[in-house]
Amino acid sequence: MNINTVSTTAFADQRPGTSGLRKKVKVFQQPHYLENFVQSIFNALEGFRGQTLVVGGDGRYYNREALQIILKMAAANGFGKVIAGRGALLSTPAASCVIRKYKAFGGIILSASHNPGGPNADFGIKYNASNGGPAAENITEAIYKLSLAINEYHISDAPDIDIDNLGQQKMGDMIVEMIDPVADYADMMEQLFDFDAMRKLLGSGTFSMSFDAMNAITGPYAREILEKRLAAPAGTVLRAEPLVDFGGAHPDPNLAHAKELVSLMNASNAPDFGAASDGDGDRNMILGSHFYVTPSDSLAILAANATLVPAYAKGLAGVARSMPTSQAVDRVADVLGIDCYETPTGWKFFGNLLDAGKITLCGEESFGTGSNHVREKDGLWAVLFWLNILAVRKQSVAEIVKDHWQKFGRDVYTRHDYEGVATDGANALMQDLRARTGELAGQTFGSYRVEHCDDFSYTDVVDNSTSSQQGIRILFSNGARIVYRLSGTGTEGATLRVYIEQPEKDPAKLENDPQLLLSELIKLSASVAHIENYTGRHVPDVIT
Ligand code: G1P
Ligand code: ZN
Repeated sequence: MNINTVSTTAFADQRPGTSGLRKKVKVFQQPHYLENFVQSIFNALEGFRGQTLVVGGDGRYYNREALQIILKMAAANGFGKVIAGRGALLSTPAASCVIRKYKAFGGIILSASHNPGGPNADFGIKYNASNGGPAAENITEAIYKLSLAINEYHISDAPDIDIDNLGQQKMGDMIVEMIDPVADYADMMEQLFDFDAMRKLLGSGTFSMSFDAMNAITGPYAREILEKRLAAPAGTVLRAEPLVDFGGAHPDPNLAHAKELVSLMNASNAPDFGAASDGDGDRNMILGSHFYVTPSDSLAILAANATLVPAYAKGLAGVARSMPTSQAVDRVADVLGIDCYETPTGWKFFGNLLDAGKITLCGEESFGTGSNHVREKDGLWAVLFWLNILAVRKQSVAEIVKDHWQKFGRDVYTRHDYEGVATDGANALMQDLRARTGELAGQTFGSYRVEHCDDFSYTDVVDNSTSSQQGIRILFSNGARIVYRLSGTGTEGATLRVYIEQPEKDPAKLENDPQLLLSELIKLSASVAHIENYTGRHVPDVIT
């Protein structure tokens, strides 16, 4: 094997976003583009010579080609070993599990999560550290800076590796081990949950479930865990085959993109429990028969019921939620007498809290929930957590949620997304709001009085690092909130996200439609920010 040092010129657009670098496949396919970014990752790291790197992805188009390139660059840069999922597959939570289990130096995950896949769609790459979690901001920024100055990269001229068979091979001095992408993760789930109780429920004949893998990575995981280890009937897992373009669908488990599952769950003979996961397996959507559970409620309910699950039977150290996530989990933390942390959007901010043992569960309103078992959000884990609760409580999903609202009150919640708007307009809207935070405080709009308004800034309690400009918060005196931020994961134009929330304790209103309960606040969210003026949009594209 020879190592080639290839001259290159920098690309100006390789700054990682909320979750790694995401671009169109065509952008990644430009000569040197992927190589520059991978070399910049390696250049930002120290001490990996002879160490192990984990690589895998969500099965989307260009994963397999990218794995071959990364293997050759890892060998040329001096890694001792690469552990990769067979077929270049590893769900994001499984990659986190494998990095931790085999004490790897770090990992590279090939995924653009819930973004569409295929030759004309999206690709993504991100680096995870030895704790199994997304690299902290100081590392992603270092990668970006190095990418701006790069002028060469190192790559082996070895032939392609067989990535479809298990076992060890050699590339120069480096060992390449192809592993079963599912086994380690499935074993871990079996350790965390009460599989006996869950097996009984699934085999009881009075309970049925459907899991929509959306032709993405969780298909093989869900088949192994639900249909094999938990003996759910064959066919429980829908769209179980991972496809490079996800069958042309948008692999995002929400009411807009998981339409088939949603109509199945609203049909007359609906299953008792429905769930879905996204492209790379870290998101989850939870449904009951004729019932939708918001991710914010789901986090709160998992926290309130955690002691029913073997892994969390001793209680929770604390919980955390991203700032735009509803305050439902805060109420549970209050009752349990544990800490609740509010972090910026993005899983990377939970890492330090998890590593320091300050929290056990955490989540985001964007269909992400997780715990200290790995350092990524984990879709199938959340589904199994719910299944475990259902098996112990022997109530329906709707009964459990309504019960929760009776006890803690409900944080009525909705998110309105304005997708693909012009970047200039979106930036101007945010700048305008930012400039007005001072004057908004104290103002009254109809029945709402602004108690506090700011641009959210976060100081990590573990390493004292600060992240500012994380979203405009308008906090009202009745506990309601409106939050505005721009997406950091999109690949086209800008996406404005508006998060609207209000506590409700009136038992007569608890079960009403959120869009109705929040109607005044929704109008206010559009007028205060002059959304139509800045974006030209009268209504949002996606409401969740
Ligand atoms: C979105 C979600 C965020 C999540 C991220 C990665 O980021 O809002 O909660 O962590 O995807 O799954 P955004 O596009 O809003 O920056
Ligand atoms: Zn994802």
